[in-house]
Amino acid sequence: MSENGINLSDLKELFVKYYGESDHEIRIFTAPGRVNLIGEHIDYCGGSVFPAALTLSCTAAVRLNGTDWIRLGADDLEDVYTFSLRDPQAGKRLKWGNYQAGVINALLEEGYLIRGMDFLFTGNIPFGSGLSSSAAIELTTAVASATLSENYEEKGLDLIRMAQLGQLAEHTFCGVNCGIMDQFASAMGKRDHAILLDCASLNYKYVPLALGDYTLVLANTCKKHALGASEYNKRREEVAEGLRRLNAALGENRANLCDFSEAEYAAAEARLGPDKVKDRVKHVIFENERVKRAVSALENGNLKAFGTILCEAHASIRDLYEVTGPELDTMFEIASHTDGCIGARMTGAGFGGCTVNIVRKESAEAFIRDVGRAYTQRTGIVPEFYLCTAGDGARELF
Ligand code: GLA
Repeated sequence: MSENGINLSDLKELFVKYYGESDHEIRIFTAPGRVNLIGEHIDYCGGSVFPAALTLSCTAAVRLNGTDWIRLGADDLEDVYTFSLRDPQAGKRLKWGNYQAGVINALLEEGYLIRGMDFLFTGNIPFGSGLSSSAAIELTTAVASATLSENYEEKGLDLIRMAQLGQLAEHTFCGVNCGIMDQFASAMGKRDHAILLDCASLNYKYVPLALGDYTLVLANTCKKHALGASEYNKRREEVAEGLRRLNAALGENRANLCDFSEAEYAAAEARLGPDKVKDRVKHVIFENERVKRAVSALENGNLKAFGTILCEAHASIRDLYEVTGPELDTMFEIASHTDGCIGARMTGAGFGGCTVNIVRKESAEAFIRDVGRAYTQRTGIVPEFYLCTAGDGARELF
């Protein structure tokens, strides 16, 4: 039994080693990572984003344990981390497992009667790669815990709500003031499709990822991104300040930066101040417009235009939003000048992690070899590459 490259019999066997035999059945839940194709750092500005769920995923074997304790283990960790359902806040202090504890806490507040459970996690989303391994852990935990709750029949499982609870967990238990994109993509992913998501209304539509002769190649700079680091939260403060200034300049009182057009930005630009805030605002408003152009290029089968817009997006996030860093910029630079590559950009929060590249299928092997070599020469780091297809969202497997 194997799914997404994970051997489920091995996982169950290991589960029994960790937690022993029991009468209860072991159930298997999974949720994917994501790649964002375009629409970066605008989900928290009410913008439209265009992610796709991956087939790389987090998977957990889960079993009720008849106690009021949650026990959390992983195949690459020796210890098992525990907290009591009577004091779920204590889960915040776990050395590992605070994402899961945050989700369980959010489900309890939502009225789910969560029961004691044992978890054994595994997965193949490289940690710190900007491919949302944390959202995948959150959604795996949410779907498993809700499904095994005492009042599941009555409460049901609303995947969009699960995504919101994952985001809440990240805010309250992990100190990252993230947007909704990663959790939404992990919850709602659809095989062979990307998701055009309006983050203000949560309206969304699936767009076929019809790339014809091209394929997506993820290039991992192997420079771990430090999302918890203050820069992410700092950008959020800068755009909040940008919104105040733009509203004041135009005599408006709009809720989101992405409610403003490029023309309105141009009219107010001179009044947005001398500091970086102006650049941040410009990135957000123009990126939101780029998403619309990119999606219509893809829908019209104009892959070259799609790729060119991705490259523009990289330049903007590098020069105006300043969340790339030397490794991502070097990877982008090399890839975008390599044969067969028609578009590239960093994906995710930035400061390390992956770029996403649109590469002609027949050139993919050479692309990986040549870009890998040149990147190592320039940075001294050996990168990793993943051929990527869009997969389904969070679900119970067995
Ligand atoms: C992280 C966050 C997302 C989003 C991206 C940047 O992945 O979790 O909400 O803001 O960064 O687009």
